[in-house]
This record gives sequence, C-alpha cells and structure tokens, in this order.
Amino acid sequence: MGICMSSASVNQTPPTAGLFSSELKSATRNFRSDTVLGEGGFGKVYKGWLADKSTAKSGNGSMIAVKKLNSDSQQGFQEWLSEVKFLGRLSHPNLVKLLGYCWEDKELLLVYEFMHKGSLENHLFGSGTSVQQLPWQIRLAILVGAARGLAFLHGLDRKIIYRDFKSSNILLDGSYNAKISDFGLAKMGPTESQSHVTTRILGTYGYAAPEYVSTGHLYVKSDVYGFGVVMVEMLTGLRALDTNRPDGQHILVDWIKPYLSDRRKLKNVMDSCLEGMYPFKDAFQIAQLALTCVENEHKIRPSMQEIVEKLEQIDSGNEKPTEHKLNSTTRGTAYRRGQLPLRNGSPLYPRQDCNCVKKERLPKRVAVLCEKHFYYSLIYANHKDQNLVE
Ligand SMILES: Nc1ncnc2c1ncn2[C@@H]1O[C@H](COP(=O)(O)OP(=O)(O)OP(=O)(O)O)[C@@H](O)[C@H]1O
Ligand SMILES: [Mg+2]
Repeated sequence: MGICMSSASVNQTPPTAGLFSSELKSATRNFRSDTVLGEGGFGKVYKGWLADKSTAKSGNGSMIAVKKLNSDSQQGFQEWLSEVKFLGRLSHPNLVKLLGYCWEDKELLLVYEFMHKGSLENHLFGSGTSVQQLPWQIRLAILVGAARGLAFLHGLDRKIIYRDFKSSNILLDGSYNAKISDFGLAKMGPTESQSHVTTRILGTYGYAAPEYVSTGHLYVKSDVYGFGVVMVEMLTGLRALDTNRPDGQHILVDWIKPYLSDRRKLKNVMDSCLEGMYPFKDAFQIAQLALTCVENEHKIRPSMQEIVEKLEQIDSGNEKPTEHKLNSTTRGTAYRRGQLPLRNGSPLYPRQDCNCVKKERLPKRVAVLCEKHFYYSLIYANHKDQNLVE
C-alpha cells in the first residue's frame, strides 16, 4: 500500500496542538548554522529551545532537536512520513521521543527530545573537545539499552523491522542512556504466515545484513546483524565501513570476524581508547555474541530478546561505577591517530579516526510521493496503538 494510505493514517491523528514552522524557526534562530547538531543523508538536525506557552514564567521550556528534511527529495518525504507513522506512535525508554512534526508548504520538520550527549557514532569515531571517550562500563550499558529498544520493536504483536541499525542512530541522553532514533526506514515485519518482507534495498553499507543486500528479503533477524556490527564497533573502535582502510578491510565485520573467536587475536583488535581497562572475559563473551549476530544465515542468529538477556547477564557481573567518569580528552590525539598497540601478527594499521569517509547509504530508488498538503500536529506517543498498519 503506498504512501498515500500512510499519509491518510497520519491525517487521522487529531491535531491536538500545533507546531508551525514559524515556531520552529524561532526555536532554532531561523535554522542558524551555529545550531546545527549534525547532518544525515536527508537533511540537517538543529538544536532549539521551545518556550512553554502554558506557563507565564519566561525562561520555561525545553531543549529540542529539529530535523529539517530536504523537501525536494522524495526519499526525504518518505522518511518523514515513516518517522511520524512509527516513532510517533511508539513509546519506550530506549526509543527517542518524537515530540512533534510539521509539514507546511515545502517544510518537512521533525521535533525530537534533545539528546545531550549526541550519537554513539560521534563518541566512538568523532573528534573535537565535546567528544568523550566511552569507558567499558558505559559501552556495555549502551549496548543493553539499544538492545532493549530493538527487542521492544521485535516483540510487538506486529513486529517492526528497524532496518537501519547503526551507531549514528543510537543517541545518548545526559546520563548516557541509549535511545534508538531515526525510523525513516522502519518497516512492518512479516505476518505470522510469512518469513520475511520484500522491500526496496535501503540501508547503510557495512551494517546491512547480507541476505537483505543480495535479495531484498528483509527478516526480523536482519536487524540482529546490524546490532552485531555495532557490537564489533564498540569492541574495536573501528567503523563498520571505512574505505580509507586497505583493500580487504573496508567492511569491518568481514575483515575482523576471524579475530573475534580467538582470545589472543581479540586482544589485538580491542579499541586502544579503552587503554586495557575492561574485563577481558566480558569482552570475549561480547565478541562471541557478536559473532552469532553476524552469522550469514539469518536463522541461526539469536533473537534480540536473547541478546538482551545475555548482555544483562554480562553487565550484572560487573561492578557499576557510581558516577560515570569520562575522560574528556580530544579524539585525534597522537595515540588515537596512529599508535594503536600493534602486536606481532595484528591485522591493524594505524587508525585515522577523524578522516574516515562518511558512511554511505545503499542506492535508493525513488519513492512514490503523494499529493502534498498542509497539516501539523503535536504527537502524544502512547502504547495503546502499537499495531500499526501499513
Ligand atoms: N534528538 C537529537 N538530539 C541530539 N542530537 C541529535 C538528535 N537527533 C540527531 N542528532 C544529531 O544529528 C546527527 C545527524 O542525525 P541524522 O539522523 O540526520 O543523520 P545520521 O544518523 O548521521 O545519518 P542517516 O541520515 O544515515 O541516518 C546525529 O548523528 C546526531 O549527532
Ligand atoms: Mg540517523
């Protein structure tokens, strides 16, 4: 069923309170360049401040993130609609809240809760003074949170396949709690009588499951593959896809798989930013779990619920620090740049963290675009209506 149908279901959402693009313009100081938080494939994300009109007190309000999608791109419209359709109707502690959306004239805007610590991708691979290195304990907690978010989607009566699981779509709040964002590519899962859904091939190189890339058949377990890739990024501090690496090493998982199953080899590929401060036993267990997630055969990958349980078990074996003390040294320091503790036989070459090529999406086909019209609404996410119909 096409996009028009989806748009009709969006229209049925009662416009309880409106967000005009003018409000969002003033919230972001007219989308000023110094409010840009980041940029994805379909537009920029801005930081904003939405004043609370219900209280007379000046200064009351909340910090928001506003995604402005390229309205001239049909795929941008498709992603906007999907975000509204899925994220707007779901609520879970490990999913970013969509606070509102706006479609006015040519403006396609999405308003999210502001995630103070930005994306996991930025912490693992970014540079600059705001980027803090993530200690082991926090990496583990992030994996647990993100796994719970995906398990929630997979546990719904009508499962949702997220389809674009990657470190840039895992956002962190002020306490480093992980929330999954970006439902632009999410898809209703198969019905009970089906094993998969067939879709246009969309996703991100390096994270997309092999069966999906080769056939367009999307399984719930295709998400598990992406989760496994993020686990490997967490362990190694290396990007899922980096065309700056030598031939044969561009796709992290394909390259690093043989190093995960061997204790000695694993030590050699662990992220040097951890400075050896992690329980190796746990790292090895995570590596084994990651290996099962990135199995070529989707049927033998574990379910997200099994992954949650395993990660919780590993996490509970660790002493929790009372306060997450992060080392705020800037990425791109000498040792980040090149002095990875290479050992004999290590497959690694010096990293070039800050120069990695921006991840590339799989080729997209043009989406069907229905007639545009104006509407706006503020969403109140609720649990009651989780069985979305496409
Ligand atoms: N709710 C938010 N709070 C704070 N920062 C955010 C929020 N949403 C997005 N960002 C920032 O904006 C960046 C861009 O996000 P966006 O989802 O547009 O692109 P991406 O995930 O990098 O790429 P893609 O288009 O492939 O999803 C994120 O990496 C993050 O740093
Ligand atoms: Mg994203």
